[in-house]
Amino acid sequence: MPATHYERRGTVAVITLDNPPVNGLGHAVRLGICEGLERAEADPEVSAVVLTGAGKAFSGGADITEFKSGKQLAEPMLRSVIRALEASTKPVIAAIHAVAMGGGLELALGAHFRVAAAGAKIALPEVKLGLLPGAGGTQRLPRAIGLEAALNMIASGEPVLSEKLAGTALFDRLIDGDLVTGAVAFAEEIVREKRPLKKLRDAAVEHPNPEGFVQFARNTVAAMAKNFPAPLGCVDAVAASTEPFEVGLRKEGELFQRLMATPESRALRHLFFAERAASKIADVPPETKGRPIQRVAIVGAGTMGGGIAMCFANAGIPVTVLEAKEEALGKGLGVIRKNYESTVKKGKLPADKAEERIARIQGTLAYEDLANADLVIEAVFEDLAVKQGVFTKLDAVMKPGAILASNTSTLDLDKIAAFTKRPADIVGMHFFSPAHVMKLLEVVRGKATGKDVLATVMDVAKKIGKTAVVSGVCDGFIGNRMIERYGLQAALLLEEGALPAQVDRALERWGMAMGPFRMNDLAGNDIGWAIRKRRYVEYPEIVYSKIGDRICELGRFGQKTGKGWYRYEPGQRDAIPDPAVDELVIAYSNEIGAARRAISDEEIVARCIFALVNEGAQIVEEGIAQRASDIDVVYVSGYGFPLYRGGPMLYADEQGLPNVLSAMRRFGRTARGDRSFWEPAPLLARLAAEGRTFHG
Ligand code: NAI
Repeated sequence: MPATHYERRGTVAVITLDNPPVNGLGHAVRLGICEGLERAEADPEVSAVVLTGAGKAFSGGADITEFKSGKQLAEPMLRSVIRALEASTKPVIAAIHAVAMGGGLELALGAHFRVAAAGAKIALPEVKLGLLPGAGGTQRLPRAIGLEAALNMIASGEPVLSEKLAGTALFDRLIDGDLVTGAVAFAEEIVREKRPLKKLRDAAVEHPNPEGFVQFARNTVAAMAKNFPAPLGCVDAVAASTEPFEVGLRKEGELFQRLMATPESRALRHLFFAERAASKIADVPPETKGRPIQRVAIVGAGTMGGGIAMCFANAGIPVTVLEAKEEALGKGLGVIRKNYESTVKKGKLPADKAEERIARIQGTLAYEDLANADLVIEAVFEDLAVKQGVFTKLDAVMKPGAILASNTSTLDLDKIAAFTKRPADIVGMHFFSPAHVMKLLEVVRGKATGKDVLATVMDVAKKIGKTAVVSGVCDGFIGNRMIERYGLQAALLLEEGALPAQVDRALERWGMAMGPFRMNDLAGNDIGWAIRKRRYVEYPEIVYSKIGDRICELGRFGQKTGKGWYRYEPGQRDAIPDPAVDELVIAYSNEIGAARRAISDEEIVARCIFALVNEGAQIVEEGIAQRASDIDVVYVSGYGFPLYRGGPMLYADEQGLPNVLSAMRRFGRTARGDRSFWEPAPLLARLAAEGRTFHG
């Protein structure tokens, strides 16, 4: 299949990009455009050229497979193609529909004229990958729509609809009806009227006070884009558009190269590809036929069940929620209503839309009412016996082919599957709290889980706007199994001399959205306590710090009890350091004979984060995670890990695995508690020895 087509419509040549799904500007497309231009130039019968895209988009920009390789692209590069468009002696008209993004828009900016269908999304989203548009976009867009509008688009990366940009030099005409027919008619008009060719490079940038505006933009963006250099790079590049075109273009190129080399951009690009990779399951081909999901049921209307029901209602899928008792059902449905009402109050959802969503959620106490659901998600107490009762009943009533999912956070999914006569239909759907807000969904694959069940659940995740990552069965799955090791280091740091506020501050300054103690206070310290109590019995060999138990024994469960690792003013969420906790921590160190010492923030960060890395490596080695990048997706989308560091495994790569290893060995020599904690996972040791990385 050629990546571009060339045809003649009367005296107008039409070059059509045809590289599904979104006409990415790969080498074949770039070459095809140049060849088409030459052919049109050489043909005396041709008076003008229309450049358009087939299918779903004009062009979504760079071809991501080519982009991913990171290799120097082969000529003609996009900048050369754009130069060829500009240099054409016959008018070139870009005809845009649906999507013109990134390089796609930059390409169109090289044409002499542009026409668009209404509703086309126009964007330069490179900033979201820590970059800037590097093929003249920062120079030509300000010349088309003005300095201010261009800066907003480029520094935010957000799309703007074509009709909003009508009346600027970006679009000469909006076309109703067939776009190419309209574009050809427009081309004929231009030729007939002998209109001069317009080159954006020759246009002036309009603004009454460019310097003042750029300074203002710089201050605003600097305040908003902490830790991300790209938005400021975008401002600098756009500012250069007030200089002669070639000077600005050169600056754009330099700034692009500089951003390309930043760890922040590496992290954002890594996560972009990691999210795409996470949706693929090695032995479940993309063509695997899923099952239709039209009705969903939830068992349990507590914290999680309510939030999960909202996810489906928001996506337009009707949900039935079952509770054991009338009172619990009323309470659960009441919380759902309150959540919607507060979204309406904040102006984030119109009241009628909220009512529509609420109406999609039905409550029941009878299992028979779930019989017709295509998918049921259990979210009852984290207790195997309770789950057994629920799954036995579900097995009896659910129609054949229904998918039975559990939201368990730690229990053995294979045991749950064994409660039913249909283990292939059982899967884990581990949502994160609050379930209607958090993006992450761990899809837990049991021994017997069917491939079509997995394919269906991955698809459902996408429909409800979640980022799904597949995990094998183990205690805590990917995310919580790792966080337990992180939490253990945080607790040991307290025994050795740190205080909760210091540990949290160090990790928050480093970039975590919330330090471990604030996080536990939010989630409820009793939850971790219950899990630890089970683990003391199940894994007697692991040495736990008991300091968290002391906090719980005092009833300090966190925000919900007004006291935890911190204290809270009534109705407030601000964590206030509590001298009583500091005293408890110090007394505990004395009691266990631990000599307290000054601990640096650097040590706090390294011990907590490398604890994540080591467990992550173990998880990859065991095949619980399919790939290291899945772990990064879990941590960034579910645990507040800083986006600009790209996840724990990429962070380890960036540090250099031999350095990670030597720090771990150092901690191992002085560690309190379990010395084997810092035993490097074999995968980590192997990669470090071979000079490789987790993602290499
Ligand atoms: P919760 O205690 O808020 O809610 C559980 C609900 O299940 C209660 O409303 C209870 O009345 C209902 N229930 C209990 N037994 C039932 C039965 N036999 N039939 C019908 N309803 C029954 O608990 P939460 O926090 O919502 O947790 C539910 C599940 O989700 C647990 O497996 C938990 O491990 C898991 N989970 C919890 C997260 C959290 O942050 N709270 C995060 C991810 C998973």
